Amino acid sequence: TGVLAVVPAAGSGERLGASAPKAFVEVAGVPMVRRAVDGLLDSGAVDRVVVAVPAALVPEAAGLFDDRPVTVVAGGADRQASVFAGLASAGSGVHAVLVHDAARPLTPPSVVRRVVDAVMAGCGAVVPVIPVSDTVKRVDPDGVVVSTVDRSALRAVQTPQGFLAGELARAHELASDPLTDDAGLVEAIGDPVHTVEGDPLAFKITTAWDLRIAELLLAGAAV
Ligand code: CTP
Ligand code: MG
Repeated sequence: TGVLAVVPAAGSGERLGASAPKAFVEVAGVPMVRRAVDGLLDSGAVDRVVVAVPAALVPEAAGLFDDRPVTVVAGGADRQASVFAGLASAGSGVHAVLVHDAARPLTPPSVVRRVVDAVMAGCGAVVPVIPVSDTVKRVDPDGVVVSTVDRSALRAVQTPQGFLAGELARAHELASDPLTDDAGLVEAIGDPVHTVEGDPLAFKITTAWDLRIAELLLAGAAV
C-alpha cells in the first residue's frame, strides 16, 4: 500500500437531521460514503482505503465495499479520533496518506490526483482550496461589524488532505487540541501546509440544503 486513504464516516450527521448516520444517507440512490470511496479509487492514485464508521454499522459498511480494496473499522467520538482509528489499522508500507470526508461524495477524481501528485513531489502536507467569493467581515459579540477581512488572502479548505505518512503520524501524536481538519495538526506543530486547486464539487454535505444541491447536480447528469 503506497497511498492509503482514510475516510472518516463515523459522524451522526446532526445538522443534516436524517434518520440514518450521514455517511449512509443516499445521494441519488448511492450511500454518500460509497460515492466518496469510489471517487478516491477511481482517481487511480489511491491503492487502499480505510473507512471509519459508527461501531454498530461496521458489518453493514463492509457489505458496501466487498468488491473494492477497502477495510472498515469502528470510528471514535470525534472526527480526529475516527481518523486516528483509521490510521491505526493502516499496516506497513504506507508512503502517503489522504484523509477524506465521507460527507464530500461528489469530489472529482482530478482533485484526488492533484493532492497525491503534490505529496509525491515531496510536500509533507497538502490541502485542496477554493477562493472565498463572499465578502467576509469580522463582527463583535453583538454582531456589529468590526472590520472587513482581506479576502484575497483567504481560502476555503476541502478534502482530501494529503500527507507524507510520517508527517501525519507525527502531527497526530504531538498536537493536543482537537481540530476540524488534519492539516491543522501539521500547522500546530509548525510545519508547512501546501495548497492545490480544489473544486466546487468537493463541497461538504452538512445540511439538508447541501443534500438537495447534490441530488440536483447528479440529476443534471454531468457529474
Ligand atoms: N466524523 C467521524 N467521526 C466523528 C465525527 C465526524 O468520522 N465522530 C466524520 C463525518 O462522518 C464526516 C466528516 O467527519 O464524514 C466531517 O464531519 P461533519 O461534516 O461534521 O459530519 P457529522 O459530524 O456527521 O455531522 P454533524 O456535525 O452535523 O453532526
Ligand atoms: Mg461534525
